[in-house]
Amino acid sequence: MKVISVRSRLMLVFVLLGSALSLRAQWAPLINDSNAAQRIAWWREARFGMFLHWGVYSIPGRGEWVQWQEQIPVEEYAKLADQFHPDHFDADAWAGIAKAGGMRYMVLTARHHDGFALFDDPGSNFTAMKSAAHHDFVADYVKAVRKAGLGVGLYYSPLDWRFSGFFFPGIYQQSAIELRAQYQRQMDELGSHYGKLDILWFDGGGNEWLGFGGAEFTGSGWRARPKDKHYTGSFDWHDAKTVDHLRKLQPELILNDRTNAPADYRSREGDAALGEFDNQHPWELCTTITEGAWGYQPNAKVKPLAQLLQLLVGAAGRDGNMLLNVGPRPDGQIDPAQADRVREIGKWLSVNGESIYGTRGGPWLPGSYGVSTHNGKAVYVHVLHPPQNLSLVLPALPIRVVKATVLRGGDLTFQQTAENLTLNLPPASVDAIDTVVKLELAAPWTTSDVIPVPAK
Ligand code: GLC
Repeated sequence: MKVISVRSRLMLVFVLLGSALSLRAQWAPLINDSNAAQRIAWWREARFGMFLHWGVYSIPGRGEWVQWQEQIPVEEYAKLADQFHPDHFDADAWAGIAKAGGMRYMVLTARHHDGFALFDDPGSNFTAMKSAAHHDFVADYVKAVRKAGLGVGLYYSPLDWRFSGFFFPGIYQQSAIELRAQYQRQMDELGSHYGKLDILWFDGGGNEWLGFGGAEFTGSGWRARPKDKHYTGSFDWHDAKTVDHLRKLQPELILNDRTNAPADYRSREGDAALGEFDNQHPWELCTTITEGAWGYQPNAKVKPLAQLLQLLVGAAGRDGNMLLNVGPRPDGQIDPAQADRVREIGKWLSVNGESIYGTRGGPWLPGSYGVSTHNGKAVYVHVLHPPQNLSLVLPALPIRVVKATVLRGGDLTFQQTAENLTLNLPPASVDAIDTVVKLELAAPWTTSDVIPVPAK
């Protein structure tokens, strides 16, 4: 077979990708110590995790931003802790659902923006230990997730709505300093007392986020600080110091990019943020299994299986992970409708998992056909939108294809030339969600090069 040169086309793609990415505001640079690639390798292979938003906000059931949205005074909101006794909390059950869903790690909101800690922090009076439950839920969670063989992750929000210093760090300096001290103390608590942690998922940290992006006086009035304009106040979270300490306590820990400290991976948020292919920086799309908030809302509509699978496949084909959120009920149980959907995803993965786990995105870039993934000598073409005549023509692959099959069973004919690769999808194999075609190559695809797919 003639090996065609794709280099020049690739160069152009990298230039275009590079400029698109640099326009996007990032919260933190990615770390590049000698251990970084090794540290995150398991997570990249895992590809799929469960996010859990759970706290006292689950009681009113109007989302985790209820205090903010309904302007509930701090003292009033704090009373929710007296009603917090999740009698059906069972961390093993959570881990079991995640496992059945084919998820390989979990991330629980140890503390969200409302300030309520699910763990034991003797320095705070707003914790699960001091709630009606008198219980450390993080301790149970860490133990159960570890026992289930899944990666153990905690979400943590440095910002806390109870502190005026978050909103006006300049004039409420003492409060801002206390907020920062709480952040340092709680990172130390979490890093020291729960055994090995695998992921720290930050949200709402970093100077740019103070006061939710702040406001500035322009001379003619107030306006929100534009995204590309830096915070100019004197307060600093001292993220590097806190995160350094955390990394010393937990040398294998990986962190996302929502503080100002060097991170291991980037976060993308919401279905609409699936975004561009990027195999240069580890990244993860987080999104919800239901329409609406991240925290529990009774009767929230669970998203259709097709939508969720196409997001997972779309993330893998763009070389990223997906973290899918469930919002457990105030009694501690994951809503059966959400748990069932998670299990359905797991059922799909039990057949098609080899096209997701341990793969990297490409060699073909995403296109109108769908996406591709690869692992060694195997390439998986995820046909999300089959052509009408069922004959999918992809640009040439410079390695010989030895065999093509439909992953869930069945042969497939193909023609490979110097110009393209044509896959003839058997009508019976076409799946409304994703027809996964497995190509076995004569040699492994080992580079991070990509092949652009012209738009139809
Ligand atoms: C959004 C939500 C926040 C949630 C986060 C997860 O920022 O407002 O509540 O924790 O997404 O990424």
